[in-house]
Amino acid sequence: MRPQSLSVLDRAIVGFDKALRAVIPNSNPSTRPLPVDSDALPELSINEARHVAGLMRINHTGEVCAQGLYHGQALTAKNDTVREAMHHSAEEEIDHLVWCETRLNELSSHPSVFTPIWYGLSFGMGAAAGLISNEFSLGFVAETEAQVSEHLQDHISQLPKQDQRTAQILQQMDIEELQHRSAAIDHGGTPLAPPVRITMRWLANQMKAVAYHL
Ligand SMILES: [Fe+2]
Ligand SMILES: [Fe+2]
Repeated sequence: MRPQSLSVLDRAIVGFDKALRAVIPNSNPSTRPLPVDSDALPELSINEARHVAGLMRINHTGEVCAQGLYHGQALTAKNDTVREAMHHSAEEEIDHLVWCETRLNELSSHPSVFTPIWYGLSFGMGAAAGLISNEFSLGFVAETEAQVSEHLQDHISQLPKQDQRTAQILQQMDIEELQHRSAAIDHGGTPLAPPVRITMRWLANQMKAVAYHL
């Protein structure tokens, strides 16, 4: 009885620590350096830097949402299979979060002021998806990753040509998001119904519109 309740308490503490790290800037160590081939910072005009910072604030928010989604899913997943299957993806998402933070710092900018809200909403959606079924939960991850990949490609196309630094970071993230999508499908994720996909896209667009500025 006692070891079990300790185990639940331990998990709650670890979960709370992970949530705090997701929402407090610069609180995560990255396991990998920035995926760039030069330490030189690109020269950007004020307007260009502002635009790149807006895009990176969106991408940082996307990574906060990924943390919330994976943490919520881990809380309610029907068995350990989903948790284990998604563990590697969740670890890589932490690097993405740190890379986005680093680039925002370099641009003298900041993450979204609504970061705790983005995390909470995503945590709720991940937890709800986990309650429905493993197949739905993994399908939700797969669809999320597919939509993230689409907007990463869109952002890459909007970058100033000289900002290869941001482009290389986003390219590496895109490669890994598509691997996360494949992992979710390989472990049993099923395609989501069109209304669910449309609602997710609509919610993502609201988030992007707000996070670009704030
Ligand atoms: Fe990511
Ligand atoms: Fe991902």
